[in-house]
Amino acid sequence: MTRKRVAILISGRGSNMAALIAAAAERDYPAEVVAVISDRAGAPGLDIAARAGVQTRTVIRSEYPTRAAHEGAITNVLEDAQAEIVCLAGFLRTLSPDFVVRWQGRMLNIHPSLLPMLPGLDTHARALDAGLRIHGCTVHFVTAQVDAGPIVAQAAVPVFPEDGEEALAARVLKAEHRLYPAALALLADGKVAMDGGRTVYGSFPVKGGPASELILSPDPVSTVSDIESLARFTP
Ligand code: GRF
Repeated sequence: MTRKRVAILISGRGSNMAALIAAAAERDYPAEVVAVISDRAGAPGLDIAARAGVQTRTVIRSEYPTRAAHEGAITNVLEDAQAEIVCLAGFLRTLSPDFVVRWQGRMLNIHPSLLPMLPGLDTHARALDAGLRIHGCTVHFVTAQVDAGPIVAQAAVPVFPEDGEEALAARVLKAEHRLYPAALALLADGKVAMDGGRTVYGSFPVKGGPASELILSPDPVSTVSDIESLARFTP
């Protein structure tokens, strides 16, 4: 099996990055992590990656005169590492259309909401404000418009009445750590692609077969309550 070479772009904590590195440590996973790039010095994720034996680089925006020069430096690292897929994992910088086009169909992002609901920041607080009963996360192809690229996979979690932002964020993050490796595996395996601005999936002949990887309904819904009892929480 040839494993796809994946680079991960981070800005901070790196817990999704860690989940991808852990998944890629499995022998039958279709991708390997060849580089982690941070745009912030001292991002905690850098240490985690280095401890896992992954090559790390810090490419700081303020050290380059223009956005294009900064992205050029990132591109050089990606090329040196012979990356074939880029995963954004808590990367807090908007990438230029040029960069995005270069990686079109080969760059994924994870966002902590069920897109197209709640693009942007503070998704958990906004989910609580809106009184959502179902929240979650999305892995999507990256396009020039932020948080708007074609959806690859989503995971749903319940919002319980007693939830605060922290509890909800933790529940979503747990789902993110399952969803991102599953979505990356689909792309690395060639089971999903971006075509004509949309996501196209390989054929899944058996109901409940690999297609179930596309929608994750993590433990709280299935073990604590079903959708019907969850709906009863709705004011
Ligand atoms: C995650 O919630 C991810 O969905 C969002 O930024 C956060 C990054 O967290 N894009 P981490 O750095 O992966 O821990």
